[in-house]
Amino acid sequence: MAYIISEEAKDLLEDVKEFCENEVKEQCKEYDVSGEWPKEIYDKAIEMQLHSLEVPEEYGGPGLDRVSVAALIEQMAIADAGFATTISASGLGMKPVLIAGSEELKKKACNLIVDGGFGAFCLTEPMAGSDAGAGKTTAVKDGDSYVLNGRKCFITNGAVASFYCVTAMTDKSQGTKGISMFFVEAGTPGLSTGNHENKMGIRTSNTCDVVFEDCRIPAENLIGQEGKGFKIAMQTLDQARTWMGCVATGIAQRGINEAIAYGKERIQFGKPIIKNQALQFKIADMEIKTETARQMVAHALTKMDMGLPYAKESAIAKCYASDIAMEVSSEAIQMFGGYGYSREYPVEKLLRDAKIFQIFEGTNEIQRIVIANNVIGR
Ligand code: CAA
Repeated sequence: MAYIISEEAKDLLEDVKEFCENEVKEQCKEYDVSGEWPKEIYDKAIEMQLHSLEVPEEYGGPGLDRVSVAALIEQMAIADAGFATTISASGLGMKPVLIAGSEELKKKACNLIVDGGFGAFCLTEPMAGSDAGAGKTTAVKDGDSYVLNGRKCFITNGAVASFYCVTAMTDKSQGTKGISMFFVEAGTPGLSTGNHENKMGIRTSNTCDVVFEDCRIPAENLIGQEGKGFKIAMQTLDQARTWMGCVATGIAQRGINEAIAYGKERIQFGKPIIKNQALQFKIADMEIKTETARQMVAHALTKMDMGLPYAKESAIAKCYASDIAMEVSSEAIQMFGGYGYSREYPVEKLLRDAKIFQIFEGTNEIQRIVIANNVIGR
């Protein structure tokens, strides 16, 4: 793997590799069929503190640089992209607080994660997908509280989160400048979940609606200031998209691993099929794409770590990695021939898992808008 990582992370990477190879990979194969959320695997991940890799050191996290974390997340994705998505989406859920929250909220969110919880990010609504500013959820100030009403959909970790960062309209007359961001703890009266998605891929991650019905939260749970919620959401996504690129890269890497292993073992015309230069070239192309995606992820994360602008690089990493994850998975299936199309073999799952990475955290069409805005200017 081409990430250049710290010595500390190298030791952890060995542990993660062992856990992912021996437990996550095999067990998730079954959970992919049942669609059940594999609690015991997540419990083990929590025990190993793999769910809190993105928590900053001052709030109890491991204090790793982002590229080292990417190496660990990719390893998880090689085993199962749904598993890596749960972990990464928890980081997404925490980001609005880290970007703009008060010190108290930062401590609260990070403690909830370190103690074994997950975060969830609630932006999308039935009528506000790509048009993220069109949400109808409202938050009305009432004394020392805000009262939230509305329905969020396609929320990763929706039913398993300990807290939610939620966008809601506080002033309808102001458009996107009337949107605010709130921190809501699980168990708050008026907060419920519904409509669990029966997904095509990443079936070991939980995705559902999150519903707010007269959900009263303390006024201090406002993240940042009123009217800044859309900007905070965009800044959150600017960071989070690289991580989706990282998970997509892991899917592609698994495709390469499986294709090489099968190519060495499958005999046709009296020799292993990998001896054919046509298939060696295929593997080389898969490697060129996957390594390029990984370098884009590493570049965006390095810029983040250095405090340099990264929005364009993050969108490129997510967009490119998800596109090549589709291509590489498809080529892996092709290498397996008819067996590749069978659910008994591991590669058809990769294509199913890969598809969502072209869609969530902003479709790849939206990524191109973000990239164009960065290059051309608004
Ligand atoms: N950083 C800071 N501010 C930003 C920004 C950014 N990256 N992008 C926009 N803004 C600001 C703009 O500057 C503007 O403010 P001003 O008027 O003061 O200049 C304001 O926000 C509105 O910007 P736009 O006019 O560009 O907004 P828009 O309504 O045209 O939408 C968009 C822009 C980029 C298309 C946005 O709607 C978008 O990102 N859509 C995709 C949504 C998305 O990614 N959803 C994913 C949901 S999360 C998910 O999938 C979760 C999961 O569980 C896995």
